[in-house]
Amino acid sequence: MAKLIQLYRSSVGKKFLMAASGIVLFGFVLGHMLGNLKLYLGPESLNRYAEWLREIGYPALPHSGFLWLFRLVVLGAVGLHILAATQLTLLNRRARPVDYRGRQVVEADYASRTMRWGGVIIALFVLYHLAHFTLGPSWAHPDFVPGDVYHNVVVGFQVPWVAGFYILANIALGFHLYHGLWSMFQSLGVDGESRQGWRRNFAVAFAWIIALANISFPVAVLTGIVS
Ligand code: HEM
Repeated sequence: MAKLIQLYRSSVGKKFLMAASGIVLFGFVLGHMLGNLKLYLGPESLNRYAEWLREIGYPALPHSGFLWLFRLVVLGAVGLHILAATQLTLLNRRARPVDYRGRQVVEADYASRTMRWGGVIIALFVLYHLAHFTLGPSWAHPDFVPGDVYHNVVVGFQVPWVAGFYILANIALGFHLYHGLWSMFQSLGVDGESRQGWRRNFAVAFAWIIALANISFPVAVLTGIVS
């Protein structure tokens, strides 16, 4: 335990924690996007899937028991990801009070600023998103029906500024996933000349697939493809 705390105190330890919590969150956004594709199969398919999520492990676990455990894991990963990101930013600032000059540093600064602001936008989006599709108070959703996920998504995205906000947030998510995956491989030691191309291709493909699929949902509702 003492060794783990000592490791966490170093910047390598914090980067490792960012990468490990990032893997959990990447897994979540991938699984969530795949599940949401059921929107294209119609109301019964999406609503049955949402109900199934609540029934996993039942009756060994209480109804929604597994879902709550899963939510705790995701929430823990979000908390650790934000904690490590904040501490790394403070460490970097303390280590470099005077700005360097030079292309590499400018590029690294640009990437980490993009990550920081992207992270803030995504966090704000998730808070709004939980109110919009999970809790459904009238200020966030015009006609929330508990259990009718298909209806909630379609009616929710018929409001153009809401659909626009989802599209912007998912563009930010795409950039965040790209930079995040790229640096995650570095933190986990998957680097070196021979792996550069593979790393970049994987990060680009993953970010594009998630962002495009997520953006397709509000676009499909706005254009009437899904109604
Ligand atoms: C356009 C894209 C998206 C759509 C259509 C969508 C749809 C939904 C819906 C319908 C729910 C409620 C599910 C239920 O009650 O069973 C939900 C929950 C949630 N979504 Fe999304 N989502 C999208 C993107 C995202 C993104 C990008 C993130 C994270 C970065 C995210 C994070 C969450 C979380 C944390 C929950 C709560 C899960 C739970 O408590 O069960 N969503 N989403």
